[in-house]
Formats: sequence, structure tokens, C-alpha cells
Amino acid sequence: MKHFLCLAAMIAVALFSPFTSDASEAGGPSMLVPRPNEIVIGKGLFTLEGHDDVWLNQKDPDLVKTVSESGFRLCERRKDAGVEIRLGSDKVHGAEAYSLTINRNKVVIEAENPAGAFYAWQSLLQMLRFGNGEQLQCCTVTDSPQFGWRGMHFDVSRHFRSKEFIMKQMDAMAFFKMNKAHLHLTDAAGWRLQIDSYPRLSGLAAWRPQTRWTDWTLSQSYCEEGTAGAYGGYYTKEDIREIVEYARQRHIEVIPEIEMPGHSEEVTAVYPELSCDGRPSDLCPGNEKTFEFIEAVLTEVMEIFPSEYIHIGGDEAGKAGWKTCPLCHRRMEEAGLKDVDELQSYLIHRVEAFVNSRGRKIIGWDEILGGGLAPNATVMSWRGTEGGIQAMQEGHDVIMAPGGYCYLDHCQDAPFREPLSIGGYIPLETVYSYNPADVLPDGVDTSHLLGVQACLWAEYIPTDGHCEYMYWPRAIALAETGWTSAGLKDYNDFHSRALAANSCLKEQGYNVFDLANEYGERKESLSVLEHLGVGKKVIYNIPANEKYLSSGETALTDGILGGWTYGDRKWQGFHPDFDVIVDLGETTAIHYVGATFMQSKGAWVYMPDHVEISVSDDGLNFRSVALVPNDISPDNEALLFKTFGSVCDCSARFVRLVAAPGPLKEWLFTDEIVIN
Ligand code: ACM
Ligand code: ZN
Repeated sequence: MKHFLCLAAMIAVALFSPFTSDASEAGGPSMLVPRPNEIVIGKGLFTLEGHDDVWLNQKDPDLVKTVSESGFRLCERRKDAGVEIRLGSDKVHGAEAYSLTINRNKVVIEAENPAGAFYAWQSLLQMLRFGNGEQLQCCTVTDSPQFGWRGMHFDVSRHFRSKEFIMKQMDAMAFFKMNKAHLHLTDAAGWRLQIDSYPRLSGLAAWRPQTRWTDWTLSQSYCEEGTAGAYGGYYTKEDIREIVEYARQRHIEVIPEIEMPGHSEEVTAVYPELSCDGRPSDLCPGNEKTFEFIEAVLTEVMEIFPSEYIHIGGDEAGKAGWKTCPLCHRRMEEAGLKDVDELQSYLIHRVEAFVNSRGRKIIGWDEILGGGLAPNATVMSWRGTEGGIQAMQEGHDVIMAPGGYCYLDHCQDAPFREPLSIGGYIPLETVYSYNPADVLPDGVDTSHLLGVQACLWAEYIPTDGHCEYMYWPRAIALAETGWTSAGLKDYNDFHSRALAANSCLKEQGYNVFDLANEYGERKESLSVLEHLGVGKKVIYNIPANEKYLSSGETALTDGILGGWTYGDRKWQGFHPDFDVIVDLGETTAIHYVGATFMQSKGAWVYMPDHVEISVSDDGLNFRSVALVPNDISPDNEALLFKTFGSVCDCSARFVRLVAAPGPLKEWLFTDEIVIN
């Protein structure tokens, strides 16, 4: 009987066990994801049949469970074993390090700690599952991670996710050697944790009348638990204990995030005394009741989350109410704080002191640098890498999660093939291209770089299936960035391994992105366009916004068209008006003029109301040759491109385009003024 058809294995297939694969190839270390740091290929094959009993030198209960849930049998006598796991090895050093030696008749795993043995076991499972499930290439793998933080983030506020969903993702995380699960438990769209001392958080702030996040933003209201149609949910303390224990068995630490002082509208909606003016907004740092609240909540949080770190948010506080609040003013005066940034910093310092006094450490988003960093804080850098670098230069630990690489809420393929998202374009290759150590200036102490994290904000992600689709396989790219030395990374090699890993996830019931049929970048952006305007001077009657200059003054006549995202430095941004002139240098016969604009509603990028094209011989007196109206609704949430162009057979030296902003007077983005 084939090993994997035995009953125990069939039961375990439902979990994370090897399964019979169509692949005829023997499994080998070149298939592993993340790529191991050292591989030596040996001669011959190990055959599992008849060698599938596992002997452990120490009966670590978690390892015993891992092994038996994988469909393997444990044996009592070392001499009967086909697979030996030696814990406490003095040959392998490092908390998560392992060696895996596959000989013709024995597999030996050695590790100092259970975590290392667990990762060796995942490597063994991967080789079985990505290969034919029966034979393994003889080899030695000596492996340990580059970074200790290989994180994945779950936004369970915007849409609540069941504990079963989180645990299912943890199975996959463990399989790819990811080890930190960051739960974003609180935000305006819903509070997701039972807190006994403030029961309205789960009784009211966890529920809303609308399912769609965009519908909810119009009312920002909440409803009582149990109300007909109430949408939302929260984790009970028992749920959290279960999640934490499930994670622990997989060597994953669960880090809770409790947002403060911004992203706290759900708190101030149900406890209005905690905001400056009684309306849903930021917490009031001038009010001692705010600190009572934070300390009570964090005390309960620390009772159920044993993590070394507590994430206290700290991002995007509006701080507007603080400027006119008497309590905030008094606080600023008494504490000698010069502005609202220092007031936020005051709050974070106090919270850090409290958390530290309980033996834990805080993490905050990079905004906590503003007004001065709390002394022991770890920074999670999301607005690029600059905040992280500054924090490291100030001697703080950092987790890198720059939005341009690590935010998986952006599209991973051509937007017309993708479900509605917040916009942007971060394909697998972009995620993979990030190597955090590469961007560090000389002299930065790299020991402060704890690692990397994949973040998935869920405003536009209502379902579990959609959520999985956004994570996998992009989270695997970050798993490899976190584990494998940058010098060993190679996208083409990774891509073929990711295809196998993705198929494996799909077999296991994950709704993965169809990597094998990826469409890729906007085709127009892949070649350089020839037209009459290329290389010609552009006169900006209104300058481009300094954040989105693209290549600067030549951006609109460089022949380079933009990709799927306005953030790719090929699109030029204007806020809100657009008025430019192209000087062709001499009177020229013109047949056509046009410019493509994009709409990405989630990012406040809209189509112009209309574009007027006019021409001139002297650059002063223009005659209108076309007025191209918009026909795309500002309510359309898809990522859209529209060329505002017209045939305009004429002769002129200067071509002017004026784009009138749409009704919301937000961003306009265009990539090129095409003149033929
Ligand atoms: C964030 O994306 N506001 C951390
Ligand atoms: Zn206040």
C-alpha cells in the first residue's frame, strides 16, 4: 500500500500533510519556498515507503503533534526510524535554524530548538508535496532565517474574519516559515475584541448596519449586537486563547494591535467622553479618562495575548479636535508641549511606560516618530522606508512594511481582471523585489532591522475568498524576503517555485490568485511611444504636484506611458487643476492630440470633467480645436483609463490642454500628451 493512501494520511490531508501529487519528479531542495540558505545536493534518492516512521530524541509535545497531524507515525525505537529528529543538537545554532540531511535510507533533522525542527519538518513536507510524494533527492539543507520577523497582517476591523479563517492562514504561514501574525483588531469600522471593562466596544462598536465598507462610511454608524441585519463580530477571550495557542504550536506569535489615538472613531462613538468634543474622532490626550481607558484595555489585552510586543497603532491621527480642546490645551501647557505632534508623542510615551511596566514592548506605525519617539518603541515603517531608517538611526528596532512593496490591498494584476480594490498595482515581482537591507544608508546598525511584513487592509475585501486571493501567493514573496539572504534571491527561480507552491495551496482549498495566467503590467507602458511631441518642451501654466512629478518637466513628452498605478513614477499628478502647453518648436501640421487620464476612486483620483485642446502660433493667442467631455461617473470604483483625444487637423506651434477637475476637485493624473 502506498504510504499516502493509508487512512491516517487521508485524514491528515485535510490539515497540512503531504498528498499524492501528479508530479513524477522526486522532491528536492530546489523546490523549497522560501529558498534555503545552503543546499548541497547528494547522490541518489530516499524512498518514503518503508521509511516513514519518525523518531524524536525529545518528545516535545508540539512536534509530536505536528508530525502525527502530517500523517506520519512516531516510533519508540531509533533503529526503526526512517526519519530522525534530533533536538538540542550542538551542531546547529540559532533559534530557528535547522539542518535536514536526506540519505538513501534515512532523513535526519537536527535543530537546537523545536522551532528549527518545525521548519525542517515544513521543508520536508514541501519536498514531498511539490514532488511525487514518495521519493526525495538526497541532499543536505543547512538553513536559518535572515530575519526574525516574517510577518503577516490581518485587518479584521474593516471586515471581521472568523477565528477559523485566521487559523487556516496560519497553516499556510507556517508552511512558508512566517512567524508573526499581526491582528489589526480595532479601527473605525469595527472593534473586534471582548473587553470586559468597556462592554459597549463589543456590544455596539463591533456591529454596523451596512456590509460594504464604502456604504458604511457614509453613515459611520453602529448598531447593537443582535440587531436584525447587524454586520460585524468580535473575538471572545476564549477565541483569542484558541488562536494564540494554535499559532504557538506553529511557532507563530500573535501581535494584537489596538489603535490609538487616531483610527478610534468606533471607541469615541460609543464612549463619547473619550473624544475632545463628544463626537466620534481621535481619543482626547488631554483627558485622564483616555488613559484610564487605554490602560484598562491594554491590561485585558495583555492577559490574553502573551506576545513580546503590543502594537499601539499611532498612524494617521487627524489631531484636528485637539487644537481647540481645552483639556488638550491644558495638557500641552502643563507638559510643555509645543504642538499636537508632541501631544501625540506624550500619549505614546505614557502608553509605552505602562506597557513596559508590564514587561512588554510597544510597536507603532512610523507616525510615532512625530513629536519624538518613545524610548523603547519599535517602529513599523509603512510610508516608505524613510521612517524606518530614521528610527534605526535613532537606535530603535524596525519592521519594514513599506506600502509600495508590502501592501497587498493593491491589485496584483491588470485591474480589469481583478476584483474591486483600493487601486494601485503591486504584482508578485514588485513584492519580491524588495530587499530591506539594500536601501539602508551606510553606518546604520542593521541589527535593528527585525524583518518584514505583508499587510492587507481590508476596506475593499469583504469575503474570506477575496482575502486569500490578495494574500497568496504575494505573502510567499515576503516570506522569502524575510527568510532568504538577498544575494540568493532570483525572481525567475522564485516564480517557478511560487507556481508550485500556489498550486499546492489551491489543492488545500485556498482561493489563490491564478499566477500561471498573470496578465501583467499595462502593455502601453512597456514600450516607448513615438509621436510629434516627444522631446518637446512643456510649459506648465499650473505646476504638477511635487509628490507626483514623475520624471519632471519632460514627463508628458518623453514617450513613456504609465502602468496600472499612478505611483509608478510614470504618471504626473495635478491637484486639482491641469493646464499645460507643449511647444513644438515650429509650426507643425497636427492631425491628433490626446492625453490619457486615470480614475482610481479609492485613492481620490478622478477623471477630469472635460479636456479642452487648443492651439496657437505665438503661445499667447489660442484657438480651441476640441472639447472632449468625460463620460465616466465619479462613482465608478473600478480603476479606469480614458484617453481624452481628438482629431483636430490644423497647423500650429503650441498645443494647450486644459483639464477641468471633476466635481470633487481631487487628483488628476496623466502620463503623456500625444501629438500626431
Ligand atoms: C497605515 O496604513 N495607515 C498604517
Ligand atoms: Zn482633547
